[in-house]
Amino acid sequence: MPLTLPLRPLRWAALLAISLSAPAWADGDEHRLARVPLLPAYQQECSACHLAYPPGLLPAASWRRVMRELPQHFGSDASLDAQTVAQLTQWLEANARPARRTQDGPAPNRITQSAWFVHEHDELPAGIWRRKAIGSPANCMACHPQADQGRFHEHDIRMPR
Ligand code: HEC
Ligand code: HEC
Repeated sequence: MPLTLPLRPLRWAALLAISLSAPAWADGDEHRLARVPLLPAYQQECSACHLAYPPGLLPAASWRRVMRELPQHFGSDASLDAQTVAQLTQWLEANARPARRTQDGPAPNRITQSAWFVHEHDELPAGIWRRKAIGSPANCMACHPQADQGRFHEHDIRMPR
């Protein structure tokens, strides 16, 4: 059927376009996250109130926003001196989520508002984030006990009751 032949490349192009625009988490992301050792100053300054989030979870523009807004940080004052802000920002930018995967709209200041995050967690039962052992979607460690090592693989997930 010669008439269907020209359609095939079109169909592939359509599939490719979909896969490029869908907010996806890829295995490559996981490997990259786990390979980035945390800068000691980052570990020190950013793990007092929550996990020191691996830098590959947010694009550079988001990290710049988070670092700019530290005095009003999600209801907390997380201010740091200008030199430390500059040092951490530079390191976060260098290890951020690559721009080609950031089809997430305008830079969110939350990992948990990234399109890929919503997509990966949309099958969890409603209300799960409010369970006592979890409290917030930002509490990655509740379900991903190796989150502090940048490991989020499905096989490493443990759901608290
Ligand atoms: C004084 C406590 C405190 C310190 C210090 C702190 N944070 Fe936070 N951070 C918070 C709180 C509170 C939240 C909101 C958590 C929630 O919604 O459950 C938050 C949330 C975040 C989020 C968004 C999480 C999400 O919902 O996706 C990011 C990113 C973040 N912090 C980065 C940082 C960085 C980078 C540093 C170091 C420069 C830092 N934080 C230091 C208190 C702190
Ligand atoms: C209530 C428990 C829970 C919390 C809290 C949670 N997750 Fe998840 N996460 C899951 C579950 C369950 C899956 C698997 C979803 C699936 O495969 O359908 C998942 C999947 C993922 C994946 C994809 C893993 C893969 O290999 O496909 C990533 C990345 C991820 N989560 C990151 C995070 C980050 C970062 C945080 C914190 C900001 C977080 N999660 C908070 C339960 C949680």
